[in-house]
Amino acid sequence: MKLYFGSNLKMYKGVRETADYLRELSLLTADLDREKTELFILPSYTSLPEAARVTDQRLIRLGAQNMGWEEEGQFTGEISCLMLKELGIGMVMAGHSERRHVFRETDEDERKKVRCALDHGMIPLLCVGETAEDKLYGISREVLAIQLKVALTGLTSQEAQRVRVAYEPVWSIGVSGTPASPEYAEEMHISIKRTLTELFGIAGEAIPVLYGGSVNQDNAVPLIRLPHVDGLYVGRAAWQADRFDRLIRDALRAREAL
Ligand code: PGA
Repeated sequence: MKLYFGSNLKMYKGVRETADYLRELSLLTADLDREKTELFILPSYTSLPEAARVTDQRLIRLGAQNMGWEEEGQFTGEISCLMLKELGIGMVMAGHSERRHVFRETDEDERKKVRCALDHGMIPLLCVGETAEDKLYGISREVLAIQLKVALTGLTSQEAQRVRVAYEPVWSIGVSGTPASPEYAEEMHISIKRTLTELFGIAGEAIPVLYGGSVNQDNAVPLIRLPHVDGLYVGRAAWQADRFDRLIRDALRAREAL
């Protein structure tokens, strides 16, 4: 089974820094078997053209952190899927916690982005995650199911095969986040996979579900060992190419040793 390792660079790294990072990461990880391992990086919009120029996307897939859901129109400040495709970008994230909570995006917004991505042959990476409050009330599973069901509504099982999901509990993300325990992460991954299977049958079972939220050198191994975790979505701990390369290799070794 394929394992996925990716990083969202958020609003960090300008054009030159992004290009240097991608060059270094490409070199360091060149020997990894891409049949078994997929790597992807989501730089800032302004870095995407240069990122696409310096990166062999057979080695590292590039994606955008966000996207407007129309091809064009009166949507000041938005970037459309056609604009991304023009740059050779074939993957786009929808629903990152910061988009949902800082920019007040709704499940319906994420649904439109997933729809638009699929309509244009792109891979949508849908992020879902419960808040600390949801967890406290014991409604994490319900919240995750709602986010998935709304954002993926109406997809055929063929389309579902192109979707990827990242589970990122809101309380675990960023400098003030605490990583989820492996036990808790596994429980939520099982629940997410159950919802995906309910929605799409066998095709749902095959949708990769990555864990994200304060993944670091120490917890990457216990997390990737979980049977329902198909990859790691890493923020801060991935932004130095050599550290990310080590994390990936540790995780791959741990998974192979199972
Ligand atoms: P973090 O970010 O690893 O720095 O917590 C994760 C994310 O936001 O995807």
